[in-house]
Amino acid sequence: MSEILLIAGVVIGVLMIFRTYVNGARCKSKEKLHGKTVIVTGSNTGIGRVTAVDLARRGARVILACRNQTRGQAAVDIVQRESRSKNVAYMELDLASLKSVRSFTETFLKTERRLDILINNAGVYMQGTTEDGFGLMFGVNHLGHFLLTNLLLDRLKECAPSRIVTVSSYLHNHGNLDFDTLRTHKEFGVGESFWNVFRIYSHSKLCNVLFTHELAKRLQGTHVTCYSLHPGAINSDLARNLNKMSRRLLKGIAALFFKDVEAGAQTTLHCAVQEGIEALSGRYFSNCAVQKVKAMAQDDAVAKKLWEVSETLSGLS
Ligand SMILES: NC(=O)c1ccc[n+]([C@@H]2O[C@H](COP(=O)([O-])OP(=O)(O)OC[C@H]3O[C@@H](n4cnc5c(N)ncnc54)[C@H](OP(=O)(O)O)[C@@H]3O)[C@@H](O)[C@H]2O)c1
Ligand SMILES: *[C@@H]1O[C@H](CO)[C@@H](O)[C@H](O)[C@H]1NC(C)=O
Repeated sequence: MSEILLIAGVVIGVLMIFRTYVNGARCKSKEKLHGKTVIVTGSNTGIGRVTAVDLARRGARVILACRNQTRGQAAVDIVQRESRSKNVAYMELDLASLKSVRSFTETFLKTERRLDILINNAGVYMQGTTEDGFGLMFGVNHLGHFLLTNLLLDRLKECAPSRIVTVSSYLHNHGNLDFDTLRTHKEFGVGESFWNVFRIYSHSKLCNVLFTHELAKRLQGTHVTCYSLHPGAINSDLARNLNKMSRRLLKGIAALFFKDVEAGAQTTLHCAVQEGIEALSGRYFSNCAVQKVKAMAQDDAVAKKLWEVSETLSGLS
């Protein structure tokens, strides 16, 4: 009997140590954010909601920028309760619609006085088309956030020092930018197969890294800094659109080997609040530390071209 207990204890202990190891580094900053305003996109669930709770606990006014009012309002209640802060509000933002991005920023700029931290967190892992006819992953993960950031830049500059944090992914390593396809196929890659979706998602996450690279250059001297990051492999809702079998398989793997959403928010938080990382503006982070990226993800010419193409596609120029 006692042996069984001992073995069970050891197994639980090893699992707990293993989970701590899996969960990785934590944001160590104690920075408070009283009087500051933060936007977190896609914050009704997953990594975004945990990020919002932490920032509200630090005293920030937190705007949950989400596409569905019912889910957004439900998240306001949860974030207020978990952070013990009332200073949390929902504002409608559908990143799959450039019109929605514009009306969100209009409302935000009219009704809010400050913007100190913008967190581009929302993301999709599924095929589809945006309101404007772009591929859903390119449109939501990159183009919507590109327009959103640009329309909020003046306010961020007024409130500097301020930060822009964009949640990318390790999978950007598998991404590629084919500007010819982009000119002819607004989907930014076609096909519905597992590998098609994987590749197109990876392209969109490479865009996040290149966008941040170019943005940092454009922001030099403004005291607005920007960062992209990999949150880790996280047990969130992101795989909700996979087929049943892939979902079941992933669920088992995820429970053991993936970080929980709490751990998944740590690198975002590090980039948002850690003191003294300003000199690393434009860089890519993982596990709360700056990381090297492949040549294409820091290619000045590719980043500049992506910026110009995005300006045209989003109607900014
Ligand atoms: N989970 C991982 O292992 C992992 C790994 C690397 C990177 N990431 C990145 O981490 C970020 C957060 O993902 P997550 O894992 O927390 O996934 P999640 O639980 O699926 O959350 C994604 C959020 O994005 C929102 N969203 C989707 N489409 C939107 C749109 N058109 N407009 C506005 N919001 C939209 C979702 O809103 P709805 O609830 O309304 O759909 C949801 O709030 C994403 O950028 C993802 O690519 C995740
Ligand atoms: C918003 O979310 C709720 C709850 O998940 C759902 O019932 C409703 O259909 C959604 N509304 C839209 C417009 O998608």
